[in-house]
Amino acid sequence: MAKTHVLVLNGSWNNNGNSAWLINKFLEGLKQEMEIEERIVNVPRMNPATCYGCLQCRNKDDFYCVQKDETFELEKDILNTEIVVFAFPIYYFNMPGPIKTLLDRFVPSYDWDNNGLKQKLTPMFKHKRFVCIVNCADVQESFCERGAYAIKETANLYHIAYNELYMVGCDGEGIVEKDIKKQEKAINFGKQVGVEHLQSIN
Ligand SMILES: Cc1cc2nc3c(=O)[nH]c(=O)nc-3n(C[C@H](O)[C@H](O)[C@H](O)COP(=O)(O)O)c2cc1C
Repeated sequence: MAKTHVLVLNGSWNNNGNSAWLINKFLEGLKQEMEIEERIVNVPRMNPATCYGCLQCRNKDDFYCVQKDETFELEKDILNTEIVVFAFPIYYFNMPGPIKTLLDRFVPSYDWDNNGLKQKLTPMFKHKRFVCIVNCADVQESFCERGAYAIKETANLYHIAYNELYMVGCDGEGIVEKDIKKQEKAINFGKQVGVEHLQSIN
């Protein structure tokens, strides 16, 4: 059977931080359930370029952007990948800027007249799943919930599958690395996503 492509977007600059550890444990769990081919991108390090707000994409029925840059290439990868994982820390009560910038550049997928996904792109969204892995220093899950909001709403808008994991209490470097319970939670979440995904596509 063909491997499922998984694109992981790490929203932390730190390649060995709490987000990175949660990503690795999530993938460990996911791999126990399904054959995957993963690619991890450090989004802050690629420094995504902001949307111009020119709305030139609005009049096109396909995925079009005036900016033919590295960020647009990544947007096309999001479009073409079955499972897209957004994993990031909470920065100042919300998702980190580079993740939001990336999300803004996904607007060429939006049909302004029908408030949803562009009709032409629907085949690419048939089995698509967004996964959000949010962590923060605080102990209140509402912090993570706020950070995940725009991604969850995008998934709802486009009628695609969505899973989320909130990991609170990550109040410093190496917290997840030292905490087996947090690691287990991420592994189990990966397994759960794998089971759900296989059920949903079969
Ligand atoms: C600029 C900045 C802002 C932060 N803002 C918050 C916040 O508003 N709420 C919170 O609970 N944690 C906040 N944190 C803590 C991080 O979310 C937390 O330590 C996270 O685990 C860091 O992830 P990383 O190791 O993957 O970089 C902030 C950290 C930084 C560096």
